[in-house]
Amino acid sequence: MTFDRSIKIAPSILSADFANFGKECEAIEAQGADWVHVDVMDGHFVPNITFGPETCKAIRPHIKGVMDVHLMIAPVDAYIEAFAQAGADIITAHAEAGPHIHRTLQAIRGAGAKAGVALNPGTPAGHVEHLLDMVDLICVMTVNPGFGGQKFIHSQIAKVEKLRAMIGDRPIHIEIDGGVTPETAPLVTKAGADVLVAGSAVFKGGSVEAPDVYGANMRAIRDAC
Ligand code: DX5
Ligand code: ZN
Repeated sequence: MTFDRSIKIAPSILSADFANFGKECEAIEAQGADWVHVDVMDGHFVPNITFGPETCKAIRPHIKGVMDVHLMIAPVDAYIEAFAQAGADIITAHAEAGPHIHRTLQAIRGAGAKAGVALNPGTPAGHVEHLLDMVDLICVMTVNPGFGGQKFIHSQIAKVEKLRAMIGDRPIHIEIDGGVTPETAPLVTKAGADVLVAGSAVFKGGSVEAPDVYGANMRAIRDAC
């Protein structure tokens, strides 16, 4: 994985057909997705349950590019090795998932994956100030994690600006997760974000039988930025 700050669209398969993940991943990549975003939820850290490392392992062969795994689970450390073994290129853990995010990030890099840290809307940018040399990605949640299709929280734009200034020329991606649409995407890319996770805005109206809709939805986001 080489680093650059070009705008990347990372469709979240949370909005895909759960009975058809393999074909859905192939369809979004064929239609221009840069990364595939995989949302893991445990019904404890967030009020929803999705899937675990076995599912990630099963979909891995259907993804040619970057598999971006977002862990909304607590505790997290005991599962890092399994997600790395499942083929995750990036593993993102929440700063709020436990008292030892520093140790968690060390464990992610130690397992051979790129390390991401996610911040809930109520967590300030300064929370990651002393972690900047151990992360490859900072995920700014622009909704409360747990569900797709929620409304973008505008107060997070200022957080993105702060993080962009803190990062300087370090090779760290700023990823936005939640409520990304052609209307909200330019607000965050202007503030310094380069990775746009989008679930409902990419998958709406399309299917593996009508994948060009996914392509058009992604183009609409890209063109708006
Ligand atoms: C929310 C997830 C997101 C979600 C985004 O907890 O982390 O990745 O799928 O969905 P949309 O784009 O529909 O807000
Ligand atoms: Zn996510």
